[in-house]
Amino acid sequence: MSRILSLLGSPSARSRSGALLAEMEGRLAAALDVPQPPRRVVLRELPAAALLAGDAAAAPIVEAIAALREARLVLVATPIYKAAYSGLLKAFLDVLPQDALRGKTIVPLASGGSLAHLLALDYALRPVLAALGAHDIRAAVFATDAQLPLHADAHRPVHELGLRLDRAVADLLEPAEAWAARVEARPVAVVPRARIPALDVIEARCSA
Ligand SMILES: Cc1cc2nc3c(=O)[nH]c(=O)nc-3n(C[C@H](O)[C@H](O)[C@H](O)COP(=O)(O)O)c2cc1C
Repeated sequence: MSRILSLLGSPSARSRSGALLAEMEGRLAAALDVPQPPRRVVLRELPAAALLAGDAAAAPIVEAIAALREARLVLVATPIYKAAYSGLLKAFLDVLPQDALRGKTIVPLASGGSLAHLLALDYALRPVLAALGAHDIRAAVFATDAQLPLHADAHRPVHELGLRLDRAVADLLEPAEAWAARVEARPVAVVPRARIPALDVIEARCSA
């Protein structure tokens, strides 16, 4: 699934947003019937000094940017910190070329302590993703910590969160025509997906 890339923006080793991302990755791999989950870039493993200095020439950062360039679908996961996405994620987004997300489909995911900052992805992250060229930014998947309880040694989603993740995957795999027919039946004006670079799931599967 080289055309699918995950970015994990948590500085924590045992990360709830990482667990949320893993659930999404697993569901995507199952839906696409591929054995491996998507490639993941764990941002806390990139050289911090280079990130903070905005040094995009450091080798692991060059590699991460190259992986992003190849990707067609990008899952962006972050914890909510101080009513916004993590500074680690911002440090990485800051070293990206200006059009780094052009033509890509993006799914934002976040975990937060409560619902208080549910909209942080929409008011804080979405404009930054758009500034980097992304037009197709899907509905975010937000989980509270309570929705990711610890089972044995891993955070697992409660049933309702699992259903929302399933829906996010189903939305990604929905054929463009079916999506257009569904949204065109709505009374509100929407941008037909045909005008957005369509997510080619088959292409993603073939390049796995
Ligand atoms: C420094 C810090 C700031 C936080 N700020 C918020 C916040 O403003 N709103 C919120 O809902 N949760 C906040 N939280 C809780 C985290 O978002 C939450 O526990 C999240 O699931 C952590 O994800 P992680 O394990 O992937 O790092 C904060 C946690 C930390 C450590």
